[in-house]
Amino acid sequence: MCGIIGYTGTDNAVPKMIKGLTVLEYRGYDSVGIAAQVGKKTELVKCKGRIGSLEEKLLVNPIENCSCAIGHTRWATHGGPSDANAHPHRAGNVVLVHNGIIENYKELKEELSAKGAKFLSETDTEVAAALINDCYQSCKDPIAAIRQATARMKGAFAFGILFDGYEGEVFVIRRGSPLILARGKDGYYLASDMTALLPFTKEYCAMREDQIAHLTRQGVTCYHNDKVFEPEWKVTNMTPESAQKGGYSHFMLKEIHEQPEAVLKSISPRINKAGLPDFSCDNITPDFWKQVKNIQIVACGSAMHAGMVGIRVLEDIAKIPTTVHIASEYRYHPPLMPDGTLVVVISQSGETADTLAALRYAKSLGVPTLGIVNAVETTIAREADRRIYTYAGPEIAVATTKGYCTQASVLWMIAAAIAHARGLISDASAKEIVNSLAKEVPAAMEKMLEQKDLFHKIAKSLVGHEHVFYIGRGMDYALSMEASLKLKEISYIHCEAYAAGELKHGTISLIEPGTPVLAISTEADLFDKTESNIREVRSRGAQVTLICREDIPVRKESADEVVSLPVSSPAATVFSALIAIQYIAFETASMLGCDIDRPRNLAKSVTVE
Ligand code: F6R
Repeated sequence: MCGIIGYTGTDNAVPKMIKGLTVLEYRGYDSVGIAAQVGKKTELVKCKGRIGSLEEKLLVNPIENCSCAIGHTRWATHGGPSDANAHPHRAGNVVLVHNGIIENYKELKEELSAKGAKFLSETDTEVAAALINDCYQSCKDPIAAIRQATARMKGAFAFGILFDGYEGEVFVIRRGSPLILARGKDGYYLASDMTALLPFTKEYCAMREDQIAHLTRQGVTCYHNDKVFEPEWKVTNMTPESAQKGGYSHFMLKEIHEQPEAVLKSISPRINKAGLPDFSCDNITPDFWKQVKNIQIVACGSAMHAGMVGIRVLEDIAKIPTTVHIASEYRYHPPLMPDGTLVVVISQSGETADTLAALRYAKSLGVPTLGIVNAVETTIAREADRRIYTYAGPEIAVATTKGYCTQASVLWMIAAAIAHARGLISDASAKEIVNSLAKEVPAAMEKMLEQKDLFHKIAKSLVGHEHVFYIGRGMDYALSMEASLKLKEISYIHCEAYAAGELKHGTISLIEPGTPVLAISTEADLFDKTESNIREVRSRGAQVTLICREDIPVRKESADEVVSLPVSSPAATVFSALIAIQYIAFETASMLGCDIDRPRNLAKSVTVE
């Protein structure tokens, strides 16, 4: 939540802020602002709304001769979206931008108010600025002031800070919230996420917890505990194109279309020469898998839904008892952790605060942890005992598609690896699963992507309805959960996912003539029962769409519309159903004119609990 950026160097800083913030908008878009050093002065330009509003302000009052600036795009937490609450915030000699939450801001505000500090906004960030300024007034040393002030702050933060009198210098610190430093030909950068810096450079360095960095036009000095050092620069393999729409109307559509390749990228590094599942590139041996006796998957939102797919395959293929937990609930009602428990945390962003807190909780109990993460070198990836990257590439649309799909594919591959390591499946069966994930799944997904017109037609039948239901059994209930989340978050149509057999225990009373019900059926042996449930809603007038295996003969009267799923393998059927549910959500939101890539009230990376 919230994106921050900064630059110092020899080039014009303001266009860089605008370009970077435009990429970072997926992290929040309630307000936007920059602080630009012009000579000895620091000018603040900020407003409610999106980058366009800031650009309009800058057209009226352009900033020239600025080669050092910080910027911010906000997802509101403390105080609503407004000009006053927009970052950057100034207090005395300090101007800063912040991503995170200062939990003890109230007590700090009272203390600083008693000393005479005045506050212009409702934000916790202004309190942080005031505290740093307060420390700075006594020590007159930016690094010492940042150290002293942050030692008193509880919560999570990544700050980009300018001090009056320090021309061309940006100070940076992070705890809990992500922050990347980068080196370009013409200067040095900071950002919440490397994608914002791809237009300028590929050399980066991820900051550690509580590390302070001092950026000047000449270089970067880092401070961590008592050590002073220079960053170790690495080169990212992301390209600027990977963070652009590439000819698609929306990032979500681009990312839906990238899924066949994304699955291949997530699976292929884990196939050995013999065609068997092999996680040695992740430093995970068959012996490690053999020791696992049960798995607890912990995640949020769609990542948690990927975990629900995980339960099915880990229990069916690997015979490992598996449970899935909502990360924000995990600490309050932790399950028992018998010997042999592996806690698997799943996160596309690698920064989700609830998931991170659950990971830290599991680690505090001494339980082995494994992170399934997309964004490289993020906090969850670093803190988990072991990590498996999903290699989906940057995901910009707020609603996840390729993130979720690669999480599910990796879980499927883990199930095959465990089953093979434990001798539960033969080489031939293991190879069959691997082949299905690496070849049949991408091919089936490609085939589904060709059915755009059908998805458009189905979407048309949903427009105008206030309530929609997705139903399914077993794996299809897991898919329904994701389908329902996708539809509601981007189209704002209320949608519920129900285990098909559960509907008749109460919720069926909501079915009226015309209510859209979408039924998913990827498992042949469950079709008859799901069909009975379809009949139950149909006889009450529901408008039914059936997303169903192509080898099941569907009676004409069963559904108004049928989406046929390839059946080359169980995984191919499941992953092609995924394309259908994502595309239907996309087309519906598109017809309704919704802001698909940036749905209201949401942000991509949820770094608050
Ligand atoms: C929904 C969506 C969210 C995320 C959730 C977890 O489309 O994107 O539900 O799945 O916020 O995010 P990560 O995977 O980054 O931890």
